[in-house]
Amino acid sequence: VKPSPEFPAKSTGDWDAFASLWIAQGAQRVWRRHHDAVNLRFLTRWLPSGAARVLKTDLFDEAVGEGLYATLAAHARSVVGVDISRVVATAAATRHPSLRASVGDVRRLPFDDESFDVVVSDSTLDHFSSVDEIATALAELRRVMMPGGTLILTLDNLGNPFVALRAVLPRSAFDFVWGRFGRLAARIAPNPPGVTFGIRRLERLVSAAGFRVCERGSILHCPRVWAVLAADQLEQRGSPRAEQRFLDALLRFEALEALPTRFVTGHFVTVRAVR
Ligand SMILES: C[S@@+](CC[C@H](N)C(=O)[O-])C[C@H]1O[C@@H](n2cnc3c(N)ncnc32)[C@H](O)[C@@H]1O
Repeated sequence: VKPSPEFPAKSTGDWDAFASLWIAQGAQRVWRRHHDAVNLRFLTRWLPSGAARVLKTDLFDEAVGEGLYATLAAHARSVVGVDISRVVATAAATRHPSLRASVGDVRRLPFDDESFDVVVSDSTLDHFSSVDEIATALAELRRVMMPGGTLILTLDNLGNPFVALRAVLPRSAFDFVWGRFGRLAARIAPNPPGVTFGIRRLERLVSAAGFRVCERGSILHCPRVWAVLAADQLEQRGSPRAEQRFLDALLRFEALEALPTRFVTGHFVTVRAVR
């Protein structure tokens, strides 16, 4: 595989390069609006009000779109964000000057014990190559949380057929796509996935890390491949009214979260847990 000049094939795990390419072309602008809307829908249900300090793991949402910051800030006195990528943390801080963004690894957080009363972690822990790393990250989240604090966690849902299929594709397939078609890939392709679970295994792991799971769910129920491609086409057209109609239609798929099939249709599994 010949590396494309803008994205070297060997560095698909390099979040700085990935984010730089994405941010440079304003990729997935419409899709990210839907992604934010879906996350905000369940976050506003689960976030306790009047928190002192909220920690958000990874700042990708805030770097490439509006993200979740405004809602988190409305529920807490201060919002701290951490991302392993300096490019992502810098872009998020530029967009949201009152966000306290830092560069760090969720497996070894640069914060004191019991610093936060809420931790929001949306699809950060599903980028590792082993279960042990996820367990390490959960232990670290627990360490920085105050007793009685709330953890709101989402992971890619292995019970969803698309996620399950993506999980068995060899890493070289992602390297090929990103190496050959870097710009196009940033517009429509998923980044390489990591180890992840369905809802039952997630609950077991969160409990084993010393949390009490209070609520479970699943979100983002639209057919993702079709929706990302359609969103990309709409971006090329540049019609705000058509974009809004499309986003309204996508959000209606979230009604599927009320059905018993929710842990098959949802792209992410979610838990609210208390330390
Ligand atoms: C592709 S994004 C997806 C997450 C995003 N919240 C979402 O739902 O779209 C992954 C983000 O996690 C960050 N990240 C990856 N590994 C990390 C780690 N070990 N600690 C902190 N951030 C990490 C990356 O830099 C990137 O910004």
